[in-house]
Amino acid sequence: MAKVVRIAALGDLHCSKSSQGTLQPLLAKAAESAELLLLAGDLTDYGLPDEAKILARELTSVRVPVVAVLGNHDYESGKADELRQILAESGITILDGDTCETHGIGIAGVKGFGGGFGQRALAPWGEATIKQFVREAVDEALKLETALARISSVPSVALLHYAPIAQTVEGEPLEIYPFLGSSRLEEPINTYRVTLVIHSHAHRGQLEGKTTIGIPVYNVSMPLLSRSFADRPPFRLFDVPLPLVNDIAREQAIAHEAAPPPA
Ligand SMILES: [Fe+2]
Ligand SMILES: [Fe+2]
Repeated sequence: MAKVVRIAALGDLHCSKSSQGTLQPLLAKAAESAELLLLAGDLTDYGLPDEAKILARELTSVRVPVVAVLGNHDYESGKADELRQILAESGITILDGDTCETHGIGIAGVKGFGGGFGQRALAPWGEATIKQFVREAVDEALKLETALARISSVPSVALLHYAPIAQTVEGEPLEIYPFLGSSRLEEPINTYRVTLVIHSHAHRGQLEGKTTIGIPVYNVSMPLLSRSFADRPPFRLFDVPLPLVNDIAREQAIAHEAAPPPA
């Protein structure tokens, strides 16, 4: 029987200057329930170094590996590099187009970007500013593709902030769909047959969806989880089976949602 690795995931923590002591119990509980903790961006509220320092302190009791991507809020004050450094110094792995491997699972992380979904996605046409906007989405998708190419031989998780499919955004106002994600992120996920996709950013979206080839996508936005599961803490658990023989069993490595912990 294949070994299973349990992952805890949440996003949109929006750690602010007043968050001291409020996130620690949640993060400790999530980490106790799993072998690995994933944070899907908007780690801070205004992208301030002081907020990152508070989050780092809230994570000090966590004893499992913590892997994160930044979200749009983490860029608000133009200090994303400083945030990365503060969090990295406290032992958190921040991915931005790169990968890490832990417990036999490869994790590729990017923030992602907007632009919309499917046939209505914004195309690089017309004004230079529009082309620049689309370029950012294309660049994030290329970063994800490059990262996934490096971990194609193991069960893999794509850790994003922005949504790669429209399904997990549904419930948000239609007018803001293009700012919540991009189908361009879905292409590399399908190409490399990622085992599990985690994102946040759509606070009012849907919990789960699938890519066009059936890869499971989970929106782990904290506000969404809090509203959806009033009786349990706002994080999700996933079981990822490790293959016995890499390439054959990898096809069977389907991530399942694990039983939630008691509140
Ligand atoms: Fe957010
Ligand atoms: Fe966000």
